[in-house]
Amino acid sequence: MRFNIKKSSLSILALSLLMLYGCDMDQYIDSTLSGQPLKKDNTYEEQTRYYDKFFKEMIERGHIQKGTTETVALDSLPKGQGGEVNWTTAVVEGYINPKGSLEPDYEEEPPLDLNVFIEAKVPLMSNVLFPHNIHTYWLSCQVCHPKIFIPMAGANPITMNEIFDGKWCGVCHGKVAFNFFPIANCRRCHIVMKGESLQNESWR
Ligand code: HEC
Ligand code: HEC
Ligand code: HEC
Repeated sequence: MRFNIKKSSLSILALSLLMLYGCDMDQYIDSTLSGQPLKKDNTYEEQTRYYDKFFKEMIERGHIQKGTTETVALDSLPKGQGGEVNWTTAVVEGYINPKGSLEPDYEEEPPLDLNVFIEAKVPLMSNVLFPHNIHTYWLSCQVCHPKIFIPMAGANPITMNEIFDGKWCGVCHGKVAFNFFPIANCRRCHIVMKGESLQNESWR
């Protein structure tokens, strides 16, 4: 299963974004959602390839291991290598489909299909692809923008040390979202091999 934003809801989304964030962001989202390349230096094919890669990896990673959890309800959900539930795979594969709110007339907002490439600024370490899709499935924009991240690619001086210390991605990861360890979990964020990155290859 893949999430696709319905065209009809796009204008509503764009409109509310315009009110929230002003024109710059709206223009950006508009071109993103109409299928234009995200940036002039990474092509539409590259982006599509990475969405495909992302969803393929998500599905490959989760495996049902019955009898591994004490909580019976978690037993039938896909697990990662550490035996913990892989919530992304649970959503992508349709095991769960939680409601956005308990309010009966709550209008669900569709997730945002926008991958942001973040280069790991050391040699050899694979680069990071930040998927808005799965994050905005669970969370609204205001959770991260602008308090944790300025909504502009490359605008945040993120480092791994600070993430481990609970800043940036570490506000959630390692706490309420998947952990840094086992070591296989590094690859959940560092998914783009050096040399096949979408841009900026000066760190090799
Ligand atoms: C939740 C996502 C996430 C996870 C999990 C994660 N990283 Fe990172 N990592 C990042 C981001 C974002 C950056 C910032 C990229 C940059 O500017 O260098 C980064 C940067 C790095 C860098 C570049 C140098 C630096 O200190 O910034 C190294 C090395 C690194 N990570 C190693 C690891 C290792 C090893 C693991 C597993 C134990 C891991 N990362 C797990 C997101 C993650
Ligand atoms: C879990 C946190 C999180 C949530 C929720 C989130 N974003 Fe982001 N967003 C990020 C990160 C991380 C970046 C990349 C920042 C960087 O590269 O330094 C980013 C970047 C962006 C950018 C800039 C992209 C570019 O190429 O310059 C836009 C626009 C954006 N977000 C819009 C949104 C909108 C709209 C929503 C809600 C539908 C949203 N974001 C929800 C974390 C989030
Ligand atoms: C506000 C909370 C929050 C922040 C901040 C955040 N994430 Fe996440 N992230 C989540 C949640 C929740 C999920 C769903 C999976 C889970 O709960 O383990 C998720 C899932 C992901 C996934 C999906 C892949 C997988 O294997 O599950 C990736 C990749 C990811 N995050 C990377 C990042 C990176 C990189 C950053 C920082 C640039 C970041 N996240 C910041 C909450 C957050």
